[in-house]
Amino acid sequence: EIIHVLLTGGVGSRLWPLSRKSRPKQYIDLFGGYSLFELSVIRNEGFSTKLNVVGNVDNNELSKKALTKLGNEAYSNIIEATPRNTAPAIAFAAFSAKPEDILLVTPADHIIKEGEEYSAAVNKAIELAKSDSIVTFGIKPEKPETGYGYIEHKGEDVIAFREKPDLETAESFLEAGNFLWNSGMFCFKAGVFLEELKNFAPEVFEKSLKAWKNNQEGELKLDDSMGIPSISVDYAVMERSDKIKVVSSDFEWSDMGSFDAIFDYLKDQNHPIDENGNMVIGSENYTAFVGLKDSILVCTSDANLVLSKEQSQDVKKLYLKLERSS
Ligand code: GDD
Ligand code: MG
Repeated sequence: EIIHVLLTGGVGSRLWPLSRKSRPKQYIDLFGGYSLFELSVIRNEGFSTKLNVVGNVDNNELSKKALTKLGNEAYSNIIEATPRNTAPAIAFAAFSAKPEDILLVTPADHIIKEGEEYSAAVNKAIELAKSDSIVTFGIKPEKPETGYGYIEHKGEDVIAFREKPDLETAESFLEAGNFLWNSGMFCFKAGVFLEELKNFAPEVFEKSLKAWKNNQEGELKLDDSMGIPSISVDYAVMERSDKIKVVSSDFEWSDMGSFDAIFDYLKDQNHPIDENGNMVIGSENYTAFVGLKDSILVCTSDANLVLSKEQSQDVKKLYLKLERSS
């Protein structure tokens, strides 16, 4: 079987106040009547025989609602008691599958243009996964983004995988020319993935397995989950395994992770921007910016945010601070 594993656990902290704990960014109808979550389901239906939604207990109702809207009742569901990042989330999906099943793992919060290029990349990845590779999807980098992972490659072969470098390092990657952005989508056999997780992150493997064995109809228990180390698949497996292959693709892709990405996306959609590159999101009110450039005003019903576009990654720090003080 080919199983689409849809990861929908993040809070989208870099998009506060648009994205909230009660309504993470992937469920917001910001994109022509559909949310990013819904678009991810639709985009991958044709490649898979089954959908497995892995999300945390707070997101469960939102996922269910979205799938009902799409008329998809036949999905399976893994409900995490608490977010432990992507390595455990993917491990649960792999435990629930047969070792030979191919998992097409995608985040629920990206904008991707469907079409021939996307199909070709996914089909290629599935082929490589059949011969026991762990496949990532690489995108040609446009700027030294520090919020992404980078893949140093030669053709399909991966020389090194580097998760979230600092700016200087990212700049050197762009200069070198043989680095791709990691899109955060993966394709592999469940058994191959678990083997590598066991090799490189044995504690994550053991504790995730123990928690999984104790699941009740796909729902994990909080007690079991608290002890699992919180680590992303990128650090746990991708940076370490030598089974990684990369499918380099040029489909249009954007991680809607932070406001600079939303800005670029909306700009392409002809959303208004003033002559100094300032943008308003979430309000139709007439707004003037004086003495500011490349800044964004985000308005919601109970909180506003003003930020310098350049500092988009720092919204996460603010979010964490607000969370601590609440
Ligand atoms: N189920 C579940 N549980 N899903 C999770 C969890 C969790 O605990 N944590 C994160 N996710 C989901 C998010 O909702 C998102 O869809 C996906 O997994 C990736 O997590 P992010 O938190 O968005 O990761 P990132 O953006 O910092 O980094 C990853 O994606 C980049 C591209 O967007 C990495 O793979 C980078 O290498 C990559 O460049
Ligand atoms: Mg992300």
